[in-house]
Amino acid sequence: MSQNLCIGLAGLGTVGSGLVEMLQKNHDEILRRTGREITIKTVAVHNIAKKRDLPAGVHLTDDAMSLADDPDIQVVVELMGGTTVARELILRAMRNGKSVVTANKALLAEYGREIFALAAEKNVALGYEASSAGAIPVIQTLRDSLAGNHITSVMGILNGTSNYILSEMNNNGFDFPTALKAAQDMGYAEADPSLDIDGQDAAHKLALLIRLAWGVHYDFSKLSIEGIRGLDPLDIQFAREFGYRIKLIGQARDENGKIEAGVFPALVHHSMLLARVNGAYNAVRIEGNAVGSLFLHGLGAGSRPTASAVLGDLLAIARRDEVNSAEANTGFIDALPDAEILPSDETISPWYTRATVRDTYGVLRDIATVFADEGISFAQLIQKAASQDDCVSLVLMTHDTTGTAIKKATRRLYEDGTLLVPATCFRILAASGNEAEGV
Ligand code: HSE
Repeated sequence: MSQNLCIGLAGLGTVGSGLVEMLQKNHDEILRRTGREITIKTVAVHNIAKKRDLPAGVHLTDDAMSLADDPDIQVVVELMGGTTVARELILRAMRNGKSVVTANKALLAEYGREIFALAAEKNVALGYEASSAGAIPVIQTLRDSLAGNHITSVMGILNGTSNYILSEMNNNGFDFPTALKAAQDMGYAEADPSLDIDGQDAAHKLALLIRLAWGVHYDFSKLSIEGIRGLDPLDIQFAREFGYRIKLIGQARDENGKIEAGVFPALVHHSMLLARVNGAYNAVRIEGNAVGSLFLHGLGAGSRPTASAVLGDLLAIARRDEVNSAEANTGFIDALPDAEILPSDETISPWYTRATVRDTYGVLRDIATVFADEGISFAQLIQKAASQDDCVSLVLMTHDTTGTAIKKATRRLYEDGTLLVPATCFRILAASGNEAEGV
């Protein structure tokens, strides 16, 4: 085993800077654990003119591809993000026989088939612990620690920015734009925050977890994705009155060999652990037929927490005799098939609906008629006091139904004029078992 592990780092943003910092800060600990120096030879950045605080001897370049071509570099660490240059860099590094560590969930969700196939062909390691749920070691947990299970469900809070926004709205009464600005100021949001608030970032991570849980590629373009953009504080308030918190949930379940998956805002009962995940924290709840249910919780974004996951991958590579080895990339031996998909709207659960209606005779009867027509039964209903223009909010909590039925019923009611604006509808998360038990 050579004494040094020589890396090339692409990207010196939040995570890249955290990696450089922690490699120095934890140098002695890392050496004790691996017996090797992990040294950065070159860092590729977009703007080479900007002043950087880098250890002596580290080269700076604006040519990311040079990392893939440098014979001294054994591992390329890709922390630049995006799916164009980053994809080219990773593929080129692998073609040149280098292992890769990346935090790039978008790339692995959308181009995973191609990237994992090349890693297997070239027998190189692909570390991606940082690509899902930041500091939480969920990749290794699913791939290794729970490998002896049949996994039945994976659900979680996978986007720190959205969770921070929802927490600020819930705890401090912020409106959506103020809470988003606060999340951006904390450095949690993606460069394009629409990836966070519209659910794509969580969906990218969910696609990676599906691959690890069931050994299938889930066609990302078919994943059902809803975000929290423009969430009305009224819904946060009404949900609270019923004992729920609104959370952006990513959920995937094995339904008799088909995968039902989606990202959606949902009402989560306050007694569930997921409801108590606040700020930029992420959490993943995994159910397996041997382990029962497992709950992982930790920071999902930020410089040091994400660098922690990158370091875990680097140390795993450094400990191997052979730096290059594809054996553990997906956790499955063969090339992965496509997932058979069960549409998310066919999932059975209770629903929350907020309807804006005129405070007059017959409205409830009309709503009840259409809901009954669509086979939906009410569990609870409250009407909030009329405002000056005679409009009221009706909050309807249903028994088990499907998204298809709820969407059809509320669309009918809007089209016939009963609802003054389109209804706001959220799934109510159905927990299996009592999560609060044992805590
Ligand atoms: N923007 C992401 C989040 C960072 O908020 O979770 C980590 O992927």
